[in-house]
Amino acid sequence: MANVIEVKDVSMLFNLSSEKVDSLKEYVVKLLKRELYFNKFLALEDISFEVEQGDTFGLVGLNGAGKSTLLKIIAGVLKPTKGTVKVSGEMAPLIELGAGFNFDLSAKENIYLNGAVLGHSREFMDQHFDDIVAFSELKEFLDIPIKNYSSGMVARLAFSIATAIKPDILIVDEVLAVGDYKFQEKCKRKMSELLDDGTTVLFVSHSSEQVKEMCNKAVWIEKGRIKKIGSAEEVVDAYTLA
Ligand SMILES: Nc1ncnc2c1ncn2[C@@H]1O[C@H](COP(=O)(O)OP(=O)(O)OP(=O)(O)O)[C@@H](O)[C@H]1O
Ligand SMILES: [Mg+2]
Repeated sequence: MANVIEVKDVSMLFNLSSEKVDSLKEYVVKLLKRELYFNKFLALEDISFEVEQGDTFGLVGLNGAGKSTLLKIIAGVLKPTKGTVKVSGEMAPLIELGAGFNFDLSAKENIYLNGAVLGHSREFMDQHFDDIVAFSELKEFLDIPIKNYSSGMVARLAFSIATAIKPDILIVDEVLAVGDYKFQEKCKRKMSELLDDGTTVLFVSHSSEQVKEMCNKAVWIEKGRIKKIGSAEEVVDAYTLA
């Protein structure tokens, strides 16, 4: 199979003086790692790997390991300090909850807005609108501003938009974790369906079981470096036993 993603010698150096620490979790992790005292922080160091078409590729690692940073670089949201990323195909990134949404607008308006962000025309979104709404199960809530949505409802909307339009590459960073059990199951089925159609999936989850179940390959990132890469089973076992 052909490579659809090639990550080569990627390093990411953050300048902490201009940093915003978004959560207490991040702050504590940094404090414990004594990283708050440095001006520069190397979040990723010499990362290289390939993802083949049709892979479900899992990323595992502790909080702050660099998984989301790596996904953002692959999605083109962040530019790496060093190294290159080659991606072939259309990508639907679900990285941050609500990215590409305007919380003052209704779900209906956000479907079109997010579609535009993903590069789709209004006509194209018209054609897919009913499918998106049906999958999200948010029909009764279409006209209220999504700032009144729960985080699970936002995740439903985002996942429904990203997958209604068959992407070549689907990137899912933990956003499913806020969905309820039923919706998570539905998402898993949808991802399997997409996989059967040849979509490549990149998947971050803190559930080892989910990674083992969903992924054929995985990489374990530790403090910005690749600790282990290989079959999902091997990598997850090594990670959970460590
Ligand atoms: N914009 C930024 N500026 C400075 N540092 C950042 C920035 N984004 C991320 N970092 C730092 O890079 C490191 C890796 O963060 P990242 O979000 O990639 O971790 P993660 O593996 O996704 O963790 P989690 O499992 O908690 O989601 C952390 O120490 C984080 O604080
Ligand atoms: Mg993350």
